[in-house]
Amino acid sequence: MSLEPTSRVVVIGGTSGVGLAVAHAARKAGAQVVVGSRSAETVDRALAQLPGATGRPVDVTSGESVQSFFDSVGEFDHLVYTAGDAIAGGLIADYRPEEAQRFFDIRLFRALDTVRASLSSLRPAGSITLTAGSVAYRGGPGTLLGAAMSGAVISAARSLANELAPRRVNVVALGIVRTPLWSGMTEEERTSLFASAGNNTLVGRVPEAEDVAKSFIHLMDQDYVTGTVSLVDGGGVLN
Ligand SMILES: NC(=O)c1ccc[n+]([C@@H]2O[C@H](COP(=O)([O-])OP(=O)(O)OC[C@H]3O[C@@H](n4cnc5c(N)ncnc54)[C@H](OP(=O)(O)O)[C@@H]3O)[C@@H](O)[C@H]2O)c1
Repeated sequence: MSLEPTSRVVVIGGTSGVGLAVAHAARKAGAQVVVGSRSAETVDRALAQLPGATGRPVDVTSGESVQSFFDSVGEFDHLVYTAGDAIAGGLIADYRPEEAQRFFDIRLFRALDTVRASLSSLRPAGSITLTAGSVAYRGGPGTLLGAAMSGAVISAARSLANELAPRRVNVVALGIVRTPLWSGMTEEERTSLFASAGNNTLVGRVPEAEDVAKSFIHLMDQDYVTGTVSLVDGGGVLN
């Protein structure tokens, strides 16, 4: 897959996990890449692995930080948003509105604020790719917040695709992916999570971030697709 060498890709959350893999894949596909995430340290660490890419800190929870990020980036073609913080699980019996709001904040509310702030520099032929979870389609005990947030991101993207046309807006909906998102768990808990998540797919394994990054590149490259969801879950929803 290739992207125009003149095309500029901005990856918010591009210093770790899925976003870092998208940044790598976009460089490999020939594009210019700008990564942004919360800390200067993680940006510098990511840039050390991304020859030719640029980046700068941006905290999506601050409107001012987001605005100054886009002011400094200038015109670009593709926005990818993969920022996310700790996972929140739980059953409806444990539901706490404050925890739900925290969980939705970066993944939905700040994603939309980032889209808003990007519009003055995102070219009309460009694209936006947001991130959600395949739990939107399956759910189940313990996935309440992830399912609700993912459904909201998918619906928001469909609405944005209409509103922002001819710019394209799509979502990649992920099953469990092996990334630093799970680093808060013990090694034993992670091994058990990845083993059971892999068994719950049709392909029989949990993917690496590089595997799922391909779908983000496809959605940038395929300029006749908008308002859609790329479900990247190894067939998990069918199992
Ligand atoms: N991994 C999975 O199994 C999985 C499954 C389904 C959905 N997802 C979703 O996919 C997305 C990416 O997940 P991942 O696994 O790649 O996670 P990750 O490895 O933890 O990466 C998250 C990225 O978000 C950035 N970030 C966090 N808070 C930020 C803020 N306030 N402002 C700017 N950037 C911020 C982090 O940057 P800093 O390090 O600088 O803070 C990091 O670059 C998340 O929304 C996640 O919920 C992941």
